Amino acid sequence: MTAKTTPTLETLDKERVLHPATSIADHLRTGPRIMAEGSGLTLTDVNGRRYLDAVAGLWCVNIGYGRTEVADAMGAQARRLAYYHTFSSMSNEPQIRLADRLLGMVPGRMSKVFFGNSGSDANDTQVKLVWYYNNLRGKPRKKKIISRLGGYHGSTVASASLTGLPMFHRAFDLPIANVLHTAPPYYYRDATPGTTEEAYAAALAAELDALIEREGPDTVAAFIAEPVMGAGGVLVPPRTYFDRIQAVLRKHDVLMIADEVICGFGRLGRLFGSEVFGIEPDLVTVAKGLTSGYFPLSAVVLSERVWAVLQAGSAEVGAFAHGFTYSGHPVGAAAAMANLDVLLGEDMVGNSERTGSYLQASLRDRLEGQSMVGEVRGLGLIAGIELVADRASRRPLDATLKVGQQVAAHCLEDGLIVRALPVGNVIALSPPLCITRDQVDQVVDGLARAISAVGDELVRQGAWKAA
Ligand SMILES: Cc1ncc(COP(=O)(O)O)c(C=O)c1O
Repeated sequence: MTAKTTPTLETLDKERVLHPATSIADHLRTGPRIMAEGSGLTLTDVNGRRYLDAVAGLWCVNIGYGRTEVADAMGAQARRLAYYHTFSSMSNEPQIRLADRLLGMVPGRMSKVFFGNSGSDANDTQVKLVWYYNNLRGKPRKKKIISRLGGYHGSTVASASLTGLPMFHRAFDLPIANVLHTAPPYYYRDATPGTTEEAYAAALAAELDALIEREGPDTVAAFIAEPVMGAGGVLVPPRTYFDRIQAVLRKHDVLMIADEVICGFGRLGRLFGSEVFGIEPDLVTVAKGLTSGYFPLSAVVLSERVWAVLQAGSAEVGAFAHGFTYSGHPVGAAAAMANLDVLLGEDMVGNSERTGSYLQASLRDRLEGQSMVGEVRGLGLIAGIELVADRASRRPLDATLKVGQQVAAHCLEDGLIVRALPVGNVIALSPPLCITRDQVDQVVDGLARAISAVGDELVRQGAWKAA
């Protein structure tokens, strides 16, 4: 009789779990890395290996790991009332208090908050709200939503359609109808040499204007954008970009949706990205930093302008027939309240600005001399390092070499977590907002080492030549 062996966690994972945004073939070969604990910026895996997380999970653990205040608030709420729905006028105190607090924080003339569970479902809610709004206004043809190539807005059916990354469409029969994509503000790669930021921004706004004219302004309902584009390359908009874009939107009566899922709650050194760039949104999406990832919670914040139409049309249209079992979850709202207490109480937004400036300067000092580093860009505590084959001509690296992934893998082996973005050999950093200068030094040193090591290895293989 053969003894039955207990499968390891690694084996069970490979045999039982479908991982998001993961190559199935690679995962079956390499297996999972299983995290067990977190504190501050440090993660520890089940084998006791420690990592410095320079990405805050998926750009979300703004207050850092292991804050017992948040765990305690969730525990206390779960013991008191772990769940009750918010359909049909039902409510709970944490969601009421959180909505009130958010409306005091989010910029613009905001009126109401709708809670969901993720950035993706919140952006699906945005799509439906925009359609609903125009139906109630008697403009049933005004339905198209414009997002930007490279933008990331989620992976549900509507939000993945807004996402402007081909891998999220290919083989999924997306995007759906009524979603259009326009050019992103990619100054480094797309502006003709010698063009000023202002002239480039004006050209992008003119392109958007022409697109809306071509489609017919009476068919275009909304424009959605991240203040700083995250997954699409960490693109900081050129000067005057959002002013010019918003002028076009106002001209054509098109709503502005600010996707603050990454930028919100301090990432750029201000509470919201909209404040940094003078965005006056009609609708705002928040998630991630709302609870720092301690509980899945998102929110759509509606302006007075949108709300007025919903309220006026209510008696005729009947119930607002949209919502989730977990909308306004009391444990999620309690987590968000405790998270905001930590974030604001410890001035992590201020730290994001101060230590963020130090991160940006250190990255430029250390990396801009390396022959594979084309551009270092970012703001506050988000940064992107674009790796190129040739600095002078900005020629991209051969995509099949997957250099970004090699750099990220090298960092990981060295105990540092950075993120290789899905396109363009860009390494992204977005550490928790409690990061110290010493930790910034460790991140920058580790990344510089990894870029040189991967460069040396590529040279050795004859795959790349330093200019
Ligand atoms: C800007 C932005 N919007 C939306 C989303 C989707 O959020 P979630 O993964 O919570 O659905 C993300 C996720 O990374 C994001 O970066």
